[in-house]
Amino acid sequence: MSLPGMKTPAGASGIQQWLSTTVMSAVSLVLALVVISLSAGSFLPRASLRVYLTTGAFGGSKNGTAAAFLLSDKVFQGGQELLPEQNVPSDTMNSSKASLGTRQFNRRMPEPVATGACDLYRGEWFSDSSGPLYTNSSCPLITKTQNCQANGRPDKGYENWRWKPEQCILPRFDAQKFLELMRGKTLAFVGDSVARNQMESLLCILWQVDTPVNNGTRRMQKWIFRSTSTTIIRIWSSWLVHRSIEAVEFAPNGLDKVFLDIPDENFMELLPSFDVLVLSSGHWFAKRSAYILNGSVVGGQLWWPREAGKMQMNSVDAFGVSVVTCLTAVATSPDFKGIAILRTYSPDHYEGGEWNTNGSCTGKVKPLLDEAVRNEFTDTMHEKQVTSFRKAVKNSGEHGSKLKLMDITKPFALRVDGHPGPYRSTDPNKKTQRGPDGKPPPQDCLHWCMPGAVDTWNEMLLETIRRELAG
Ligand SMILES: *[C@@H]1O[C@H](CO)[C@@H](O)[C@H](O)[C@H]1NC(C)=O
Ligand SMILES: *[C@@H]1O[C@H](CO)[C@@H](O)[C@H](O)[C@H]1NC(C)=O
Ligand SMILES: *[C@@H]1O[C@H](CO)[C@@H](O)[C@H](O)[C@H]1NC(C)=O
Ligand SMILES: *[C@@H]1O[C@H](CO)[C@@H](O)[C@H](O)[C@H]1NC(C)=O
Ligand SMILES: *[C@@H]1O[C@H](CO)[C@@H](O)[C@H](O)[C@H]1NC(C)=O
Ligand SMILES: *[C@@H]1O[C@H](CO)[C@@H](O)[C@H](O)[C@H]1NC(C)=O
Repeated sequence: MSLPGMKTPAGASGIQQWLSTTVMSAVSLVLALVVISLSAGSFLPRASLRVYLTTGAFGGSKNGTAAAFLLSDKVFQGGQELLPEQNVPSDTMNSSKASLGTRQFNRRMPEPVATGACDLYRGEWFSDSSGPLYTNSSCPLITKTQNCQANGRPDKGYENWRWKPEQCILPRFDAQKFLELMRGKTLAFVGDSVARNQMESLLCILWQVDTPVNNGTRRMQKWIFRSTSTTIIRIWSSWLVHRSIEAVEFAPNGLDKVFLDIPDENFMELLPSFDVLVLSSGHWFAKRSAYILNGSVVGGQLWWPREAGKMQMNSVDAFGVSVVTCLTAVATSPDFKGIAILRTYSPDHYEGGEWNTNGSCTGKVKPLLDEAVRNEFTDTMHEKQVTSFRKAVKNSGEHGSKLKLMDITKPFALRVDGHPGPYRSTDPNKKTQRGPDGKPPPQDCLHWCMPGAVDTWNEMLLETIRRELAG
């Protein structure tokens, strides 16, 4: 698929094409090399992160390639965070839950009137017959692994759920209104592949009213909507803080070092040009890496030499520190006049295994009605993130009001139906090329089908921007 003016082909089809594509970004290239170099190791032991989290004693030799599968940009990445066992029967919908699908969104309810006081993130999912904001044929840049309909997903109901906050209406996305609000302004998404998922959703929605110009570089994706001179940017940042592979103390060269107290310069340098910044992270904290604080190695994930004694910091705490660092730096930066929105941890829904041990979300066709099925790891990460957000607001003093929380974790924990699952490739058997280990690729129960649930993030984003910019 190539469109005039598109520098980067949208949606490389799978790993093979990804490997052969010549327009891969430098970041992806580096990541790929790192991962290829790591993938000589053995596969990650099941639930090892969780074991680590609960016992605090993660064996030093258990270096794996969970991350290998890579939360990389172009390669599919399973959520390699290791989930607690969830032997949930495939039919989790009880009779009351089954009726959820028949409940219709009351379209006669008065629109907007979303007041500043209304909590956008507490509410319910309703089926809305007005359908999605775009389709796979009206948006030319849906990444193949997220184009669930093209990949043979048989059900379509997941495209039609709309979020209803308890106290107000979350308006259906109005692309014209968004562009008008963002006239002459720049919105930047900074984060991992889930940030890409959200940016592509936004581009698809806006594409329905204006065809953007691709002005991307190796450093960032950049799309310009000429009708209002609105710029949408995406910059890759796995941890939101500085990263290097050079040796630090006893952490060897080649291993990812995550500098928890240094914000990622890749986007910080561009901060003054952003009016709205959407930050997100989390999943990469399950990746093999060493954590550095004030120049010293303080912990690691899937890496820690026994002889180094007890770790000072596990991956969840490291995640917390990184969030405080990044948000505080953004808010207190004298050149940043915009708002920074932290989009919280995106829940995944692997059942019956992890991403690399046949974990699945096959057959999920409706959202859950309540949070009966909880994911301990998601909850832990979410809680850490929210606490860290509050710390950053406090640290930032008068600038703390530049920070906004887009608290999507709980509403989207209900969207078991929103992921590609096996429909991440066009292969009719849903098995693409086996890896070097002979295993078929896992399901994607982490990213979101497009169109689909992820579009609601942008409705929440528009509402947040509206409240800020339009007063
Ligand atoms: C994994 O750890 C072992 C022993 O700790 C080491 O010999 C090996 O090189 C490591 N593998 C990778 C891929 O880092
Ligand atoms: C279904 O409902 C019954 C009674 O209403 C309850 O006992 C049971 O636990 C429910 N099952 C699930 C999976 O929610
Ligand atoms: C869109 O999805 C349909 C199935 O609903 C599929 O036949 C078609 O090839 C897809 N088109 C694109 C451009 O992905
Ligand atoms: C795209 O970027 C180049 C420089 O990188 C600039 O000269 C050009 O005007 C930009 N195009 C648009 C449409 O802004
Ligand atoms: C950082 O390390 C230096 C010595 O390397 C020490 O003087 C300083 O107090 C440390 N800072 C913090 C915040 O721990
Ligand atoms: C995954 O499923 C395949 C085929 O059903 C089976 O052979 C394999 O043992 C399973 N792997 C795990 C880790 O459960």
